[in-house]
Amino acid sequence: MSLRLQAHMGTLRQLEILLAVYDCGTVGGAAQNLHLTQPTISMQLKKLADVIGLPLYNVIGRKLVFTEAGLEVVKTATEVLDSFAKLESSLSDLGELKSGTLRLAVVTTSKYFIPHLLGPFCERYPNVGVQLNIGNRQQIIERLKQGVDDFYVFSHPPADLNTESIEFFNNPLVAIAHENHPFVKQKSVSLEELSQAPFLMREDGSGTRLAIERFMEKKGVNLNIKMTIESNEAIKHSVMSGLGVSILSAHTLAFGGNMGLAQLQVESLPINSNWYFLWLKSKRQTAIAQAFLQHVESDGRRMLVTELSRHSF
Ligand code: PGA
Repeated sequence: MSLRLQAHMGTLRQLEILLAVYDCGTVGGAAQNLHLTQPTISMQLKKLADVIGLPLYNVIGRKLVFTEAGLEVVKTATEVLDSFAKLESSLSDLGELKSGTLRLAVVTTSKYFIPHLLGPFCERYPNVGVQLNIGNRQQIIERLKQGVDDFYVFSHPPADLNTESIEFFNNPLVAIAHENHPFVKQKSVSLEELSQAPFLMREDGSGTRLAIERFMEKKGVNLNIKMTIESNEAIKHSVMSGLGVSILSAHTLAFGGNMGLAQLQVESLPINSNWYFLWLKSKRQTAIAQAFLQHVESDGRRMLVTELSRHSF
């Protein structure tokens, strides 16, 4: 790397700060995570933007929106810091220490079971830190494109990116209603009947929504969407309060509580899909990432089956 180019990339600390701001979405959040003041963060980012000669992000409303140049720097910063993390991880492995950070970005629906995988892993490697980012499918695809994290979890992975994956576990999507809803007494509810009830749907960009839309399109059914809601939990509470019916991953109910809700026996349901752990082919995996993948493929699956049988809906 030429000296001129090095100067253009900024210092390692500046790259770390940039990634923290990208991860948190705010200067304040990054300041808190890094134990720095907000003016220090802003000054370091300004210095970085100055050497690069282009703005890294814009503030729109109260949101930080990264520019194309900013996203390019985030990508390179990730690669540079990854190499250092890998070095740190290998060195600590040599000292049998296993320390460092595992970075995961997962879709909202998987947040119900991911902690059950992390618990035993963190117990085994107490010095390993974990950074868990949660978003809907579209948001996690954006992160995947940046290659910031070690692993991504989807049930509808994007097909057009250069990734590798393991299929982890099934993810049935089931229909739910308030426990006093007339559908609950029916032995079987037809798709036609379901389509007439007010339906509570996840937002655009959600994998759950995508699965429901693909399924209903195949069946030639038009749902009567009454509300679009950006969260599984808010959908559950809306169904509990009688606002309508919905279709959600059974895991949001098994692990996330289901008081006042009932699963409906709807024709052709559940919609079947699977959970996948994904990573970019181009991403070099740290020793910690490798240890986590091994854990997921061996003990993780078994533990989850046990956990699920304890909580089943
Ligand atoms: P969602 O994702 O949380 O965006 O609905 C679930 C999925 O990818 O199927």
